[in-house]
Amino acid sequence: MYNFDSITNRCKTNSLKWDGLKEKYGREDLIPLWIADMDFEVSPSIVKSLQERIKHPIYGYMYCSDDYYKSIIRWMKRRHSWEVEKEWIVFTPGVVSALSYAIRAFTKPEDNIIVQSPVYHPFYSTIENNKRNVITNPLIYKNGAYYMDYKDLERKIDSKTKLLLLCSPHNPIGRVWTKEELSKLGEVCLRNNIIIISDEVHFDLVYREHTHTVMANVSPEIRDNCIICTSPSKTFNIAGLQISNIIIPNNKLRKKYDEELKKDHIVRPNIFGQGALIAAYDESEEWLDSLMRYLEENKDFFIDFIETRISKLKVVRPQSTYLLWVDCSGLNMNSEELKEFFLNKSGLALNHGEIFGEEGKLFQRFNIACPRTVLEEVLLRIEKAVKDEVL
Ligand SMILES: Cc1ncc(COP(=O)(O)O)c(C=O)c1O
Repeated sequence: MYNFDSITNRCKTNSLKWDGLKEKYGREDLIPLWIADMDFEVSPSIVKSLQERIKHPIYGYMYCSDDYYKSIIRWMKRRHSWEVEKEWIVFTPGVVSALSYAIRAFTKPEDNIIVQSPVYHPFYSTIENNKRNVITNPLIYKNGAYYMDYKDLERKIDSKTKLLLLCSPHNPIGRVWTKEELSKLGEVCLRNNIIIISDEVHFDLVYREHTHTVMANVSPEIRDNCIICTSPSKTFNIAGLQISNIIIPNNKLRKKYDEELKKDHIVRPNIFGQGALIAAYDESEEWLDSLMRYLEENKDFFIDFIETRISKLKVVRPQSTYLLWVDCSGLNMNSEELKEFFLNKSGLALNHGEIFGEEGKLFQRFNIACPRTVLEEVLLRIEKAVKDEVL
């Protein structure tokens, strides 16, 4: 019913992923598999909702309606078994801005904030831009999979440690943390008075056999010690509409966060985001289920191709997200050579692993949310470039 195979030309739409190639990579003739949006058309219900709104030719200030909150509450209950109360939901234009507001609300300059590297690169910049210290608690990489390192975490905590930024599911490694893992992490934070900011923006994009646990669902104590960053933006490919919902069950934390937003007068959604969210959560579930089937096939296609034809690369099997984390250490190149290889020899615009942390320097991140024919072309290019390298 939905055709994820069809190619929609995104050029000349000011798309950062496509039209931004020249500025970011110095070349326009690359296949872009970098920034995390999808090359798929959104669900027809979302398009209809936006078209309806455009038809009314006055575009004044908006507020978040009751229908908006109800839609979010129903989604969290249906898809995440999470009972959310309306008062807990705080509209914010984006998850990255939410991280920044939370950092300002819950810490002061020179405080320490923990991240589990390799991790989504704005985790570092939001901390640094706010003049707080990044403390890394590197994940353990063992037999092609990643695990949390609790011992290292406890060692890194001191009296200046106030916050932990959790990525759940984790970008770029695609892990879905189990309830047990989250519980162990949550307990360490509780014992040390560290608030958890749980970025769960990828939580709807989970592959078969894995189940996402919302951090606030782990235990009542942990629920009161965390804030959950959610959004329909990744799930429904509407990042450009700038709508996200930060869900904060604890009244005291929510008040502090709210105060920080109000300082910048961040109180209203734009004209389109609200209707799109309702159309997404209330009417696009079938689209999402089809998308997940397609992504699952893309992931399997990519992994099979690499395993059978480009054995120098190793894909870290993702449990969630359309972002594949690929171990390129088998190519025997250093970080700079690797970057050059994928950019100039393969003609691909990827996210170089090092931006996610030192541990990622021999990795590349591939965004596989594109039609399968494009993915095939990507793999053929890499296969050829690897062969040319050997000759
Ligand atoms: C973990 C994570 N958080 C946040 C974002 C971006 O969220 P937003 O566009 O709402 O700022 C991304 C986008 O890739 C992401 O991967």
